[in-house]
Amino acid sequence: METDMKKRPIIIDTDPGIDDALALAIALFSDRLEVKLLTTVAGNVSLEAVTENTLKLLTFFGKKVPVAKGCAEPLLETFVDASNVHGKTGMEGYDFPAPDTAPLLEEHAVNAMRRVIMESEEPITLVPIAALTNIALLLKLYPEVREKIREIVMMGGSITRGNKGVMSEFNIGTDPEAAAIVFKSGVPIVMAGLDVGLKALVLPEDSEEILHMGKVGDMAYHLFKRYRGGSFGTGLKMYDSCAVAYLLKPELFTVEETYVEVELAGTVTRGCTAVDLKGYLRQKPNAKVCVDIDGEAFRVWFKQSIQACV
Ligand code: BDR
Ligand code: CA
Repeated sequence: METDMKKRPIIIDTDPGIDDALALAIALFSDRLEVKLLTTVAGNVSLEAVTENTLKLLTFFGKKVPVAKGCAEPLLETFVDASNVHGKTGMEGYDFPAPDTAPLLEEHAVNAMRRVIMESEEPITLVPIAALTNIALLLKLYPEVREKIREIVMMGGSITRGNKGVMSEFNIGTDPEAAAIVFKSGVPIVMAGLDVGLKALVLPEDSEEILHMGKVGDMAYHLFKRYRGGSFGTGLKMYDSCAVAYLLKPELFTVEETYVEVELAGTVTRGCTAVDLKGYLRQKPNAKVCVDIDGEAFRVWFKQSIQACV
């Protein structure tokens, strides 16, 4: 076990969400990450519901990390949730104990992020696994934080097609303006999008193994049974765990440094991440894009990581 000194300090911005719940479990139990703050944003379900879910997860895991509530709606886009995928509450299928609300800060997520970033001796890594509304406001309101952010490792975007619209991935399509601000910010970005999320699968036989991996495994199994992000029988997509996997096991990914621009004006392509792998736009790279993942190795890593959640 490594010492606390070597832990990488991160802030996770999240909207649990079943796949968020698993990503949070892995990050919170990792002995190589120090989760300094969890911030919430409307996405899979409402801000109130995702905040409640975050508190429920922390209580269930027995982890003490401050939580700050962020934006209840996108900057300009009309808010449309994904309760069709994650269930009405966002985390249906498991009977969580009543959440301890003590970790909930009064500060807005954007202010809490600024404070944690500015107070940290080491540069902080931001890990958004939801719409980028809070992160965009942080970068616009408090530009001084940019220097102190090591990188932004996000789950979001797609090189090819979408899962919210024809060309838009859910986290980017939920708040395209926010995503555009983040990609234009100049802060180093890692984009783990659908291209890897669609291959980061938990197969039925994995779910059966996970069921016997302690209380976190039991919880995961029961959430998986209700998760419509893929199918329990053919493979559940662990989108958000890809961002955490990039931090802990980057060798799982094939990465290309390239230019990414978020389409804002397209009549049918709004929210698309135009990933310019061939350099048509003649712009300098602004992101490392995960173009592929070793799906088999991911499954092994994922199960080992859930097993380690004790
Ligand atoms: C993303 O959308 C959400 O529903 C998931 O939690 C993930 O962050 C996948 O497109
Ligand atoms: Ca999410």
